[in-house]
Amino acid sequence: MNPFKCLRIFDEGGKTAGRVVEVQLSELSAGEVVIQTAYSSVNYKDALAATGMGKIIRSFPRIGGIDATGTVISSADARFKAGDEVICTSYEFGVGHDGGFSQVCRVPADWVVPLPKGLTLFEAAALGVAGYTAGLAVELLELNGMAPQNGKILVNGATGGVATLAIDMLAKGGYSVVAVTGKDAEHGFLKELGAKEVLGRQGLELGSRPLEKPLWAAAFDSVGGDQLAWLTRTMQQGGLIASFGNAGGIDLKTTVLPFILRGVRLIGVDSGFTPMPLRRKIWQRLAADLKPRHINDIAHLISLADLPAYFSSMLKGQIRGRAVVRMS
Ligand SMILES: NC(=O)c1ccc[n+]([C@@H]2O[C@H](COP(=O)([O-])OP(=O)(O)OC[C@H]3O[C@@H](n4cnc5c(N)ncnc54)[C@H](OP(=O)(O)O)[C@@H]3O)[C@@H](O)[C@H]2O)c1
Repeated sequence: MNPFKCLRIFDEGGKTAGRVVEVQLSELSAGEVVIQTAYSSVNYKDALAATGMGKIIRSFPRIGGIDATGTVISSADARFKAGDEVICTSYEFGVGHDGGFSQVCRVPADWVVPLPKGLTLFEAAALGVAGYTAGLAVELLELNGMAPQNGKILVNGATGGVATLAIDMLAKGGYSVVAVTGKDAEHGFLKELGAKEVLGRQGLELGSRPLEKPLWAAAFDSVGGDQLAWLTRTMQQGGLIASFGNAGGIDLKTTVLPFILRGVRLIGVDSGFTPMPLRRKIWQRLAADLKPRHINDIAHLISLADLPAYFSSMLKGQIRGRAVVRMS
């Protein structure tokens, strides 16, 4: 196989930097399945990893990217064969194992999901870890009783990747979604995705009492910190919070009162290590009832060379929706 391009992340005297370079297949981490990558995508974790803003990568150099979709070139595992269209995300991909910002990936067969009917390789990458996390959060909250008739659903960090896809999925499912965003110019876009109301982040009255007026039946939290603390104080009786993000901080300062007086449930969502049967179930749902209606408005294409600038904008909270990286 000829050399191919990838975004490789280096540690240069304690400074982390990602650069587009050429590598050979033999330089990639080991695995049974070799994939011709069609698309990758950009997640917050990728931006943290490639810039060193988060201590995500444990050994260097490392090809970044926690998402890839593509076609199997060869497989030493009987579950996959050349020509199969597949998705690879999560586990150690792009962290402890070379990842998806590469025209060719080599991965353990245990991490590979067959592309479900109903999704193209582009759509699956546009969903990627972000869409998977939104879908997993919907599944976990539904298991705990989330239903459209229970009341409003708050989604914060609303223009982000996970949140835009979550708004679209929830609106499609008949939920009444309230979006919180820091971007005044994007209220119209969020309404087009299906948000019934949009609140400006800067204008939020966070309050400080252990329990505030109950407002939300459920919440999808990309942000953490003060916003998550506010959510715990403003949930209705039996309210459900999916906590998956830390775009605004990792602290959580609240009291036990929401939990012991309102029965609020704080449900952690980890996309990284979901057991494969549940992972496949979520991907099936993402191709069917949870498939967002506005994927093409949420996602846009970029190239490998665009990645460093995109990481920087993402960490400043300046992006909207999902960037899909075209690999061919
Ligand atoms: N647990 C998991 O398995 C999992 C999986 C995927 C992602 N995540 C996490 O979920 C979060 C969202 O991921 P993503 O890929 O959707 O990221 P993203 O596309 O960068 O979206 C994050 C959004 O949060 C808002 N935001 C940014 N900085 C903020 C701040 N200082 N205070 C309040 N809001 C801020 C912005 O939206 P507005 O401008 O609209 O407010 C931004 O667009 C990240 O923390 C990520 O690490 C976790």
